[in-house]
Amino acid sequence: MSQTGQVRHLAIIMDGNGRWAKKRHLPRMAGHKQGMENIRRIARACDDHGIKVLTLYAFSTENWARPKKEVSYLMSLPVNFFNHYMPELQERNVKVKIMGYPDKLPAATEKAVQRAMAETADNTGMILNFAFNYGSRAEIISACQELAAEAAAGKIDPAEIDEQSFSQHLMTADLGELADPDLLIRTSGEERLSNFLLWQLAYSEFYFIDRFWPDFDEDDLQTALTAFANRHRRFGKI
Ligand code: IPE
Ligand code: IPE
Ligand code: MG
Repeated sequence: MSQTGQVRHLAIIMDGNGRWAKKRHLPRMAGHKQGMENIRRIARACDDHGIKVLTLYAFSTENWARPKKEVSYLMSLPVNFFNHYMPELQERNVKVKIMGYPDKLPAATEKAVQRAMAETADNTGMILNFAFNYGSRAEIISACQELAAEAAAGKIDPAEIDEQSFSQHLMTADLGELADPDLLIRTSGEERLSNFLLWQLAYSEFYFIDRFWPDFDEDDLQTALTAFANRHRRFGKI
């Protein structure tokens, strides 16, 4: 967790693709496509700002409840994204991480994300972390189940479970000291978490902006980072 003005881990709830499209009398899919293209622009800008981890909420465990056609379009986006942008990700030494439940993903989607992770596994630059089929309550329950199983097997003492050992069982564990976002941005004017990183955001700064995700640009990012730099994080102290 950074105490100074620099954002090391930025998390974004990329919201408003559907409304962006509706405003233009386009199908929702057009908004998702534009939203995907915006990931490239913003990831690039984050890398240029020296951000170490960029976590993007791309598909929630609740998004399966959308119409079948929209879900299958959203499932095709990772294939499309990595097909187009892998050369640039490699050039920038970006390491891809996917955080979420692999079950229920179509085979082609699963293959594309596994491949992207494998191909960038040795990269040492910015971590581009996609929350895809991610849900924070499910994540927390999985952690509890794993800890309970270890306790039942006599491997750990329940009294010794603490925040640190609990964090080790979350999907952000491999991010180490960067596991908790410094700043959370949500676009589109909605001001809620929608089941995103409930544990990890405990001490993050929040920044909400009315702009729909496809329109969120480098200047908006700069404004958010400047706002963050002017915040005073106290972490309970004075
Ligand atoms: C965010 O845009 C993308 C996903 C949730 C997959 P939305 O699709 O939620 O767009 P709105 O909120 O309907 O405008
Ligand atoms: C949150 O957006 C999920 C993603 C951005 C992937 P939603 O649009 O699904 O959230 P709600 O339904 O408005 O809370
Ligand atoms: Mg939405």
